[in-house]
Amino acid sequence: TTNRTFTMIKPDAVENGHIGAILEKITSAGFKIVAMKYTQLSTRDAQEFYAVHSERPFYGELVEFMSRGPIVAAILEKDNAVEDFRALIGATNPAEAAEGTIRKLFASNIAENAVHGSDSDENASIEGSFHFAGREIF
Ligand code: CMP
Repeated sequence: TTNRTFTMIKPDAVENGHIGAILEKITSAGFKIVAMKYTQLSTRDAQEFYAVHSERPFYGELVEFMSRGPIVAAILEKDNAVEDFRALIGATNPAEAAEGTIRKLFASNIAENAVHGSDSDENASIEGSFHFAGREIF
């Protein structure tokens, strides 16, 4: 599935009213939404989703942030999806993100950075399966 990536609109961007603007940026850039839901991660969900970061000093803060309110989770389809989506969202730290990127426009700081984008085809598949059953992907 090299033509798919997984994204979340994170709690900060939902709280700040940016769901519509972010989805507009995503679809205008040529990504097709093949799965989408409005949901909230439990503490345990967030711990599991970010298990790869469990040894990082920011892990506890990250789990608390990602579970504090609703998110939008989606699977996106486009040629070269993972790489192109990471270009669209910009650097992890919005202070370093390029002009016009989603994080430059909508992120607060390196922790509360508005959106997630998978970093590899393998993780896109794992992360998509974490949130969606096969019958929810169109
Ligand atoms: P993302 O790259 O989507 O996945 C890992 C997340 O950890 C990252 O977004 C941020 O939300 C968070 N993160 C990364 N670096 C830091 C940091 N230095 N301090 C706090 N949170 C961070």
